[in-house]
Amino acid sequence: RLLIIDFGSQVTQLIARRLRELDVYCEIHPFQNVTDDFLRDFAPKAVIFSGGPASVLDEASPRPPASVFDLGVPILGICYGQQVMMHMLGGTVERGHGTAEFGRAYVTPSDDRIDVLNGWFLDTREQVWMSHGDHVSAIAPGFQVYGTSPNAPFAITADLERNFFAVQFHPEVHHTPNGRTLYENFVKLAGFKGDWTMEAYKDEAIRKIREQVGDGKVICALSGGVDSSVAAILIHEAIGEQLTCVFVDHGLMRLNEAEEVVGMFREHYNLPLIHADESELFLGKLDGVSDPETKRKIIGGLFIEVFEKHAKEIGGADFLAQGTLYPDVIESVSFSGGPSVTIKSHHNVGGLPERMNMQLVEPLRELFKDEVRELGRELGLPDSFIGRHPFPGPGLAIRCPGEITREKLEILRKADAVYIDQIRKHGLYDEIWQAFVAILPVRTVGVMGDGRTYDFACALRAVTSVDGMTADYFPFSHDFLGETATRIINEVKGINRVTYDITSKPPGTIEWE
Ligand code: XMP
Repeated sequence: RLLIIDFGSQVTQLIARRLRELDVYCEIHPFQNVTDDFLRDFAPKAVIFSGGPASVLDEASPRPPASVFDLGVPILGICYGQQVMMHMLGGTVERGHGTAEFGRAYVTPSDDRIDVLNGWFLDTREQVWMSHGDHVSAIAPGFQVYGTSPNAPFAITADLERNFFAVQFHPEVHHTPNGRTLYENFVKLAGFKGDWTMEAYKDEAIRKIREQVGDGKVICALSGGVDSSVAAILIHEAIGEQLTCVFVDHGLMRLNEAEEVVGMFREHYNLPLIHADESELFLGKLDGVSDPETKRKIIGGLFIEVFEKHAKEIGGADFLAQGTLYPDVIESVSFSGGPSVTIKSHHNVGGLPERMNMQLVEPLRELFKDEVRELGRELGLPDSFIGRHPFPGPGLAIRCPGEITREKLEILRKADAVYIDQIRKHGLYDEIWQAFVAILPVRTVGVMGDGRTYDFACALRAVTSVDGMTADYFPFSHDFLGETATRIINEVKGINRVTYDITSKPPGTIEWE
């Protein structure tokens, strides 16, 4: 296995992801935990030093133990990791005075070619992503330069005797297009066969959950979405009945959704699950409310209240499980620094752990969405479930602009079901990030048969996106749209007009509220 020593870079997890893509097993450990004893027990086959925000010129800045260089295994230092390596092995690092470099840069090769750079410089130069203030001004004895950029004369250096490699840029990010090749060459050189699998990841995750939880009790809020479902099943495999799930049914689910989710978990996974049908409570409190933020706040607040009540009923718990993914982690870090405007108060279980004095179990924290889906498959979740479009915590409440009534919700559920059925029948479901119907707070006049109608209008929404942060509307054919409008109007009593929303995000948002 490969050890990544984390010096605090925002992109350390991306290194792990690149390695998982190469089917290599790795673990990230914060530098504080990596001691001489740790290294001996871990016995890594190769080590990577991540980047980090510190300066090696500050005395208290993070270091690996010096014994790491005596393990006799290949080491790759990235950015801060490069500087640490040079500093500890006898090179010199200087503070950047006008040599700081952020963003795209181009590296050109030296005359000598080395194995870790196989596949590089076919195009004479390589685009890389730099992000550094300090720079190396003299390399350590035994090292040679194999690539330079205008602001980094030591962009790529290596000591081939010892298999130590040090790069100033970040090969793990998307903006270093050939970065994966570099990792591939590095792990090959270290003797990895690339035979690690998601099954192995699952086993490791289960081991970690057992270690963290011991014989404590865990409670998990199941939303029916992929992330919380995968987290719950994984934890269930790890600790069985020590886990209880609570499915808070706020009465704002799609057609038959609550029954399907609860049924699946009870039957297929035999997982202790409380179906908290609180729809009366939620719909009651939402009665007459039309402001989007007020709706979100009411739903978020009630959710916490209800969840807490059920947790008490089962005698409390020591841990709260959440399906937090890595992008959620990065986003909350990078956005916590500055003042930012709240566009929408997102509904999640935030606030619960503090209030209930529970620790968090977040077994998906290191994974990206596509990896969570793969893990879900590994855990036996059906493809139809894994591929489901995201569904927002506040549910249909935010697809029903204006006041929410039971009548509107019922119409909305039916129209949504027809729309999704159409999308599936035309084989478009997997091409779309998210699709749904919003019921509009207006009635319009129509004519059906010989009679006048005065019914609701609805809007169809379908977008493509990679992460929900930006989105574009899906280019359905006119035939598809026409056929869908006809079906909805014929099959759903209460709707007599259908529109298609062609707003991208930004300036729109995906949901209507
Ligand atoms: P917007 O509407 O902000 O949505 O463009 C982006 C993505 O987030 C989902 N969404 C939510 N998900 N709780 C969630 O768990 C929420 O409160 C919430 N609001 C929006 C939305 O469905 C889309 O996928």
